[in-house]
Amino acid sequence: MGEEVNILGIETSCDETAAAVVADGRVIKSSVIASQAQLHEKYGGVVPEIASRAHIEKLYPVLSEAIERAGIDKDNIDAVAVANRPGLVVALIIGVTAAKTLAMAWKKPLISINHVHAHLQSAMMDEEQLDLPAVALIVSGGHTNIYECDTPLDLKLLGSTIDDAAGEAFDKVATILHLPYPGGPSIEKAAKNGNPKAINFPRSMLEAGSLDFSFSGIKTAVLYYCHGQDMKGQDKVPSMNEQEIADIAASFQTAVVDVLVAKTKSAADKLDAKTVLLGGGVAANSLLRKALEQMCEQAGRKLLVAPKPYCTDNAVMVASLAYYKYKAGQFADLTLEPKARGS
Ligand code: KG4
Ligand code: ZN
Repeated sequence: MGEEVNILGIETSCDETAAAVVADGRVIKSSVIASQAQLHEKYGGVVPEIASRAHIEKLYPVLSEAIERAGIDKDNIDAVAVANRPGLVVALIIGVTAAKTLAMAWKKPLISINHVHAHLQSAMMDEEQLDLPAVALIVSGGHTNIYECDTPLDLKLLGSTIDDAAGEAFDKVATILHLPYPGGPSIEKAAKNGNPKAINFPRSMLEAGSLDFSFSGIKTAVLYYCHGQDMKGQDKVPSMNEQEIADIAASFQTAVVDVLVAKTKSAADKLDAKTVLLGGGVAANSLLRKALEQMCEQAGRKLLVAPKPYCTDNAVMVASLAYYKYKAGQFADLTLEPKARGS
């Protein structure tokens, strides 16, 4: 074995400013995350201009801390990796510009990373090799994707959302219920004492056999439930008691999880998958983790789930995936640009 490969990862795709140093794709030497959730809370969602400015303010301290905590200096860093897509361009551009500057100044290779693919890496960091075929569900604030996954660099998109992402639905329903941003953890907390069968919200499966998702219908159903059909009534949420809110949260959460699990099962059945992977911010949801666990147990499939601290945005997943690109010689050049899209 040669020397270890240390990669500095940078992540600024949305509202977390993150940097990490990871050796050989799996040894986490440092991970620093500055969350902007508080800045966006009063708006009920991410405000791009505020996100961009906060990344500018936080990136230097976050980077310095990540390098210091890793106990290495620039000479021991073998490459600089950055998430350049998909995400908010005004946010991504801060990380991309910093990564390009460091790569140029330190004369290190630059590696571009697809943020959604990196989420999947969090679920397979500890695996030497996947038992194939493998199906991966990535559920975040911006994406709901199902992939067939052979290696960290070899992903085939099988299905995705045609409207809202799962996390986006959690965030929007939390706003409807006057619960704090980010909505996912708030809904999960509110749902704890709720009855998941209280309200039968729609579970959109689209046409038979489809591996695509749609979550805008359920969001509208919650809105109509709270404001009356076609939004013709008053907002009833302020006059609801805690139990009523808990019942709506639990019923919504269960409906979303039912759809996510059914679609993943359908993809896994189609491919006769031996392994199922779960990653992305919504993967932190305990009900989803448990439901997928049961599905996999019944079908004799191995489930690999991202550890909770690495479900939401972080730079470990960026530096970890970058290791495979490093080994494959897949480098970017200094013309690298941020991109809003990329699946
Ligand atoms: O992956 P992520 O940090 O950012 C994006 O790439 O979008 O995911 C953030 C999303 C948000 O929509 C948030 O509400 C959701 O993940 N989320 C959750 C939970 N924790 C975070 N959704 C459901 N349950 C949770 N516990
Ligand atoms: Zn993400």
